[in-house]
Amino acid sequence: MEQEIQTVRERLAASDEQPLAMVQSFGCQLNMTDGEKLKWLLLSMGYGLTEEPEQADLILLNTCAVREHAEDRVFGHLGQLKPYKQKKPGLIIGLCGCMTAEEPVREKLKASYPYVNLVVGTGALERLPAMLLEILGGKKHSVDATVQSAPSEELSQVRSCSFKASVPIMYGCNNFCTYCIVPYVRGRERSRDPKIIERQVRELVSQGCKEIFLLGQNVNSYGKDLPDGIRFPELLRRLDAIEGEYWIRFMSSHPKDATPELIDVICNSRHVEKHLHLPVQSGSDSILHAMNRCYTVKKYLETVRYARSRVPDFALTTDIIVGFPNETDEEFSATLGLLEQVGFDNVYSFIYSPRSGTKAAQIADHTPAQVKTVRMQQLLAQQRETSTRLYRRFLGRTMQVLFEGVSRKGEPWLTGKSTEGVIVEAKGDPSRIGTFADVHIEETKNWAVLGTILD
Ligand code: SAH
Ligand code: SF4
Ligand code: F3S
Repeated sequence: MEQEIQTVRERLAASDEQPLAMVQSFGCQLNMTDGEKLKWLLLSMGYGLTEEPEQADLILLNTCAVREHAEDRVFGHLGQLKPYKQKKPGLIIGLCGCMTAEEPVREKLKASYPYVNLVVGTGALERLPAMLLEILGGKKHSVDATVQSAPSEELSQVRSCSFKASVPIMYGCNNFCTYCIVPYVRGRERSRDPKIIERQVRELVSQGCKEIFLLGQNVNSYGKDLPDGIRFPELLRRLDAIEGEYWIRFMSSHPKDATPELIDVICNSRHVEKHLHLPVQSGSDSILHAMNRCYTVKKYLETVRYARSRVPDFALTTDIIVGFPNETDEEFSATLGLLEQVGFDNVYSFIYSPRSGTKAAQIADHTPAQVKTVRMQQLLAQQRETSTRLYRRFLGRTMQVLFEGVSRKGEPWLTGKSTEGVIVEAKGDPSRIGTFADVHIEETKNWAVLGTILD
C-alpha cells in the first residue's frame, strides 16, 4: 500500500492546485470509523478534505445497507452527483461501505450509474490507493468488493472530534439474525489484538480524549477468535486500569452473551459508563425464535434484573424491530409489555425492512404496511411517556456530564451526556465543550434533562 500511496502523491503533486476529496458516511459508528480511515488514506495520498461536493475532485460515499431506506438515500445522493460529473469530467466518484457487498447493487451501478468509477468493499479499504491509480491512469472503473479481510492496523483515522473517539475492537458478525444483512456485508468476526487496542486507548487518553467508544457488532463475542483466551470483560478491565479522566462506552451487546461478569465489570469500573445498550428486538419468544436471536424474554429479564440488583437504576437502552414478517397483534403487544416492564431510558425502533439474501426475506409477509406504521406510532407514544416518567428520577440529583456542543436551542445552552447516556442540557460557556461538569437536575423533558452547572 505504501508504494501506491507514494505514487498517487507524486501524481497529484503535478497538478496546479491541491485536489480535494469528500467522504460522506452513512449508517452505524463502525462505518463512521471506516470513513475516518478513508479520510486518513486520502490525506496520506495528498488530497485535501472538503465537505462541499462542488469543490471535490474525488467523492466517496461510504454506505449502509441495513434497511432499504438507507440504500434509497445513497442512490438519491448518487443521482445528485451526476451534474457535478458533467461539469467536471475529471471528478472521480466512488462507493464504499456495506452496499458494495451486494451483487444487485453492483449490477444497478453498472446499469444506471456508469459514472461511478470506484467500488471499494468493506474489506478492501487498503486497496483504495491502487484502485485510484488505475482510474488516474485512465481506466473508467475499478471494483474490489472484498468483504472478509484480516483486521488491518495499517490505516490510521482522521478523528472529527478531539474529545470523543471511536475504537473498533472487532469486525464482522457470526450471529446471522434472520432479518439482518450485516454478516453478509461485514463478514465473520475478527477481533483486534488487545495490546494494540490498549495502546490506542492509552494514547487517546493521554491526548485528552474524554470518551472512548468501543465498537463491534457484538462486543460480547470479543476475543473468541483470538488464541490467548481474552474475553470482553477482561478487555474492559484492562482498559479501565488506564489512569486519566475519561469514560468508556461500548456498543453493541448481544443479550445472549451479556453475562453477570460483564455487568460486574461495568459496576466495579471507574471509567465504564453505567449504561447498557442491550438490543432486545422483540418481546415475544416466538418472534425472537424466528429472528434467531438465541435468547428468551425470561433470559433477557434475568440480565436486566441482575443489572438492577447491582445498581438500582442501571440505565438501559434497546433496539426494537416493529413488524417482523407476520408478527401478530399479540406478539406486538408482548413487545409493548416488555418495554413497559423493563422501563428503557431510550428505545431505537425500526420498521422491519426485508433485506435480500437474508432468511427472513424469504418469508411471505402478510402484515399490511399500514398495520406496521400504526404499531410503530403506538410504540413511540408509549416510549415517550416512559422516558418522561423515568427521567423524573434524576430530578434534584447531581449528574456528571460531558459537554459535547451547543444545544439546538442555541447559546448559552450546552448539550452533553451523563454517565447513564442521558442527554443533559445546561446554560454554560462554550469553552466547557469537551470537559466534564457536575449538573444539578431541575427539569425533565421526554428526550433530555435540564439543569444548572455546579462549580
Ligand atoms: N449488531 C447490532 C445491530 C446492528 S444493526 C446488534 O445486534 O445489536 C442496528 C439495528 O438495526 C438492529 O439492532 C436492529 O434493530 C435494526 N435492524 C437490523 N436489520 C434490520 C432490518 N432488516 N429491518 C429493520 N431493522 C433492522
Ligand atoms: Fe445483525 Fe444480529 Fe449481527 Fe447484530 S448480532 S449485526 S442484528 S446479525
Ligand atoms: Fe449499516 Fe453496515 Fe453499519 S449495514 S449499520 S453501516 S455495519
